[in-house]
Amino acid sequence: MSLYAIGDLHLHFQSELKAPGQLYGKAWKDHEKIFKENCEKLIRPGDTLVLVGDHSWGRNLAECEMDLEYISSLPGRKILLRGNHDMFWDAKKTPQLAALYEGKLEFLQNNYFSYNEYALVGTKGYAFEGPFYLNRAGYIKGWDEQEAAHAEKLVEREYDRLLVSFEAACAAGYSKFIMFLHYPPTNVLQSSSCFTKIAEKYGAEQVVYGHCHGESRFGDSLRGDRRGVRYSLVSGDSLHWIPRRILP
Ligand SMILES: [Fe+2]
Repeated sequence: MSLYAIGDLHLHFQSELKAPGQLYGKAWKDHEKIFKENCEKLIRPGDTLVLVGDHSWGRNLAECEMDLEYISSLPGRKILLRGNHDMFWDAKKTPQLAALYEGKLEFLQNNYFSYNEYALVGTKGYAFEGPFYLNRAGYIKGWDEQEAAHAEKLVEREYDRLLVSFEAACAAGYSKFIMFLHYPPTNVLQSSSCFTKIAEKYGAEQVVYGHCHGESRFGDSLRGDRRGVRYSLVSGDSLHWIPRRILP
């Protein structure tokens, strides 16, 4: 029994690519086929695979059905997290989505899932991605006041959702956590954030995230051990479409 994670499949069996330039190149050639073959080699029926968001390019559920069917057809238990491109998933309607895919897919949002003695907690998260530039005073300034206020609101909302996830797991008696995010836990300039702090506060052993794809972005945020937490980027292209083992 193992726990695996990967993200950013950006499937488009039914929908047109909104930003095809992003997904060109060697790493994306036949990636659906390669990923499925890798899963079939690696993942056993008793294993769990967490997909950390950006599952589909579809603009609504009808445009994502084939993509979600593809994910359902992969071996093992599948737990999905929302990414910034997952338009099919209204956070407020997660219970309805879960009911629709009952027995096939599970959805991590304002809840947690058990994996042995661990609680799997998570939310989409948020990190401002720039552009960052130097202002006249020589300080790095990434946004104007309006953008900063908007970003702050997004971070607060995601932080609250993550808190709900941790608290639900704590109330059920869990004290060991693996924390999942879609966005990286920090932006490129930060060494900590409210997301790294909550991971430390609850003693999460690992923080697993996606969103950074394309080689130039693999180092955007934390990777490796920091203050007792192990950080891993699991965007699909960064893993050559081989799910990463998170727990044995
Ligand atoms: Fe993505």
